[in-house]
Amino acid sequence: MERTAAVVLAAGKGSRMESTIHKQYMELCGRPLLYHTLRAFEESSVDEVVLVTGPGEVSFCRTEIVDRFGFRKITAVTEGGKERYHSVYAGLKAVKNCSYVLIHDGARPCVTKEIIDTSKAGAMKYGACVIGIPVKDTIKISDENGYAALTPDRASLWQIQTPQAFRFDLVFKAYQKLMGSESYQKGVTDDAMVVESMTEEKVKLIKGDYTNIKVTTPEDLEIASVFLNKIYGKK
Ligand code: CTP
Ligand code: MG
Repeated sequence: MERTAAVVLAAGKGSRMESTIHKQYMELCGRPLLYHTLRAFEESSVDEVVLVTGPGEVSFCRTEIVDRFGFRKITAVTEGGKERYHSVYAGLKAVKNCSYVLIHDGARPCVTKEIIDTSKAGAMKYGACVIGIPVKDTIKISDENGYAALTPDRASLWQIQTPQAFRFDLVFKAYQKLMGSESYQKGVTDDAMVVESMTEEKVKLIKGDYTNIKVTTPEDLEIASVFLNKIYGKK
């Protein structure tokens, strides 16, 4: 049987949250934010989970997250790097013998088993896919003086979330190539970009859920707690 891994990223500093505790460890619905993210993967059909944490946080995560909550699918806890793509590469290197991999922001705690399983099915069908949602607001591109310069057609705009899911060999080769070419590294904010620029493969957009938000600024914690209570209330 072909196995699927998940790389859960939690090595960021959360600078836009402006908190003394990194946002992935902040309390949300009575537990660390990262607990909720990992719980969804534990309940999903992925076979193994690699957790990527900040420098010096590996043993804290093993004790306070993995052991404390008894996550059994986590096969490795590894240190990330300066930029998100460094952390992804570290996570991919720790994956053992999987044909598919889902890459997920630890800072998206409202992800569900259903979203994860949809993403996995997308990787199996298309080889490369990302979860996203159609943009609701009009988006403008500004000129260098802060005046509206362009208004892209909203109907073709998607807001991209995670999981982003791929055939393992495809995404691993794309990341190896990225690590060797500094000029491409600037402005890399997601994994689909890496596959788009480093391979010939097309990335399929799959509709996800408006509730799968990334906790980035303080008000996002309040919004996430509303969505999480709904998720737990349903069970
Ligand atoms: N991330 C990571 N390694 C990095 C940077 C980010 O693992 N060097 C992770 C974060 O922990 C988060 C996800 O990537 O789960 C998305 O990143 P983002 O929301 O930008 O988180 P931070 O980088 O922590 O926040 P900020 O940009 O506000 O500093
Ligand atoms: Mg960041």
